[in-house]
Amino acid sequence: MTAPLRSDPTVVNVALGARSYDIVIGRGVLASLGARIAALRPGAKAVIVTDDNVARYHLEPAEAAMHEAGVAASRVVVPAGEASKSYRVFEQVCEAIIASRIERDDLVVALGGGVIGDLAGFAASVVRRGVDYVQVPTTLLADVDSSVGGKTAIDSAHGKNLIGAFHQPMLVLADTALLDTLPDREFRAGYAELAKYGLLGDAAFFAWLEANWRDVFGAAAAREHAIAVACRAKAAIVARDERETGDRALLNLGHTFGHALEAACGFSDRLLHGEAIAAGMALAFEFSARRQGLIAMADAKRAIRHLAEVGLPTRVNDIPGPLPSVDRLMELIGQDKKVRRGMLTFILVRGIGAAFIEKGVDAREVRTFLSEKLAER
Ligand SMILES: NC(=O)c1ccc[n+]([C@@H]2O[C@H](COP(=O)([O-])OP(=O)(O)OC[C@H]3O[C@@H](n4cnc5c(N)ncnc54)[C@H](O)[C@@H]3O)[C@@H](O)[C@H]2O)c1
Ligand SMILES: [Zn+2]
Repeated sequence: MTAPLRSDPTVVNVALGARSYDIVIGRGVLASLGARIAALRPGAKAVIVTDDNVARYHLEPAEAAMHEAGVAASRVVVPAGEASKSYRVFEQVCEAIIASRIERDDLVVALGGGVIGDLAGFAASVVRRGVDYVQVPTTLLADVDSSVGGKTAIDSAHGKNLIGAFHQPMLVLADTALLDTLPDREFRAGYAELAKYGLLGDAAFFAWLEANWRDVFGAAAAREHAIAVACRAKAAIVARDERETGDRALLNLGHTFGHALEAACGFSDRLLHGEAIAAGMALAFEFSARRQGLIAMADAKRAIRHLAEVGLPTRVNDIPGPLPSVDRLMELIGQDKKVRRGMLTFILVRGIGAAFIEKGVDAREVRTFLSEKLAER
């Protein structure tokens, strides 16, 4: 099936009072970037922050869209990759934004995946004590997760995302055609975060994904639909709990196990974030079934089967290269989650689409479970 050049956009609102904004989803919506900015901030100019991969494909069309609407735009291009979420690159981005004479009423445009969204969003939160910014996500992960909700950050030597701010964008423009140039492996990794919304709170969406995932990977209208469902889910959670004092933690399904595996692989190409989350969700489902008796094994297997079917890692065996000992993995989990009197907080599941926050998971149970998993290697 060939994809249409354009589709009528779907608009999802993130309801946060004075900080409310729209997520505009559709094929070809990038062409409206300048016009939308001009409508929201008449007379504003902008700096587009992007990485060198994304720049190759999508910077000129973005600039053309700004130019057509009469919005003056300069550009900052940083190297692609997580390493750009550093103090050094952050400084360069801030200085470049200031050098382009951005005033309080002007804007930053984050054109890229989660790395650019986090980096440019954080820069926007501090330059001139805060300017507005627009997210133009170019990865599936950014479409369904990082571009929505206002978490921005760079990395510290002590860990990922430790220096940052909550800073909501004023618009998210998710042009699904931009994903056509995304490498398959990156698309698949983002799919893990998409499936997460079904697994954590929407059994019907999960069943829909089981039936339609091929169309989501293809450029069919199913892709826009899936992204819209995910954004609606994230928008609802963020509207309830903007600063993650409660419910928003549900979005961390699979992330405790996942982060430990990601850290164990040195945050390298060995295991992309979404891949780690797929393995982490599979472990969370199995742990909920086997060690906690919360969910039928058949349901846990169904969740895991789907992730495996799309080609995501679901077993520690699927992760290439050596993994550290169970002690080290427990240490990594302990760094990620506070251990209180031997108890850990985990997102567990009572069924597909029924995740909940459990603050009293016995660390010894987790260790036994992980030892069993490592022994399978
Ligand atoms: N703020 C949040 O709420 C939040 C949520 C989840 C993840 N994150 C952060 O997001 C980051 C991961 O994001 P990501 O997976 O999007 O990674 P990324 O931004 O590094 O993008 C992945 C790769 O794809 C390339 N790329 C991006 N768009 C492309 C396109 N359209 N065509 C071709 N190549 C393209 C990039 O250059 C990069 O090499 C992590 O730093 C993570 O901490 C933030
Ligand atoms: Zn994630």
